[in-house]
Amino acid sequence: MKNTLIFVVFVLLVLGLLFLISGTRSPKIPDDALHRTISDKTACLECHGPGKEAALKKNHPPKDQCFICHKVKRKGARSKDPLPG
Ligand code: HEC
Ligand code: HEC
Repeated sequence: MKNTLIFVVFVLLVLGLLFLISGTRSPKIPDDALHRTISDKTACLECHGPGKEAALKKNHPPKDQCFICHKVKRKGARSKDPLPG
């Protein structure tokens, strides 16, 4: 009986974690000149780090590996855009 309870709690924890990292609720990374060229999270933090111009909210989820949760918004037709990159 006790083991069953522990198992149920464990399953709920795993499901919660999967939901957290599933990224369905995370805003997409904008497909703009600011974001297009970046592929490294240390670069993200130059603007989104604490005290910077676009600092994350205090209740932002765990901050490792931005790309696990935030997918890049791509409209597909990149040829429309004259900017390289
Ligand atoms: C040059 C500064 C700069 C860098 C570097 C940068 N950002 Fe941003 N980011 C901004 C600004 C300013 C905004 C808000 C205005 C906008 O939408 O463009 C923004 C908006 C966002 C948003 C959308 C927020 C919303 O509410 O929709 C996400 C997600 C995001 N950034 C993630 C990232 C990630 C991940 C990286 C690293 C790959 C990154 N940013 C690098 C400046 C930057
Ligand atoms: C565990 C998943 C997860 C990770 C990892 C993550 N984010 Fe987020 N991010 C979210 C969610 C969910 C939201 C929406 C929060 C809200 O609406 O309150 C968000 C919101 C944002 C926003 C919008 C402004 C804000 O603070 O709500 C920006 C910008 C952003 N994230 C940038 C980043 C950057 C940069 C990194 C890497 C350093 C990162 N995120 C890592 C899940 C994540």
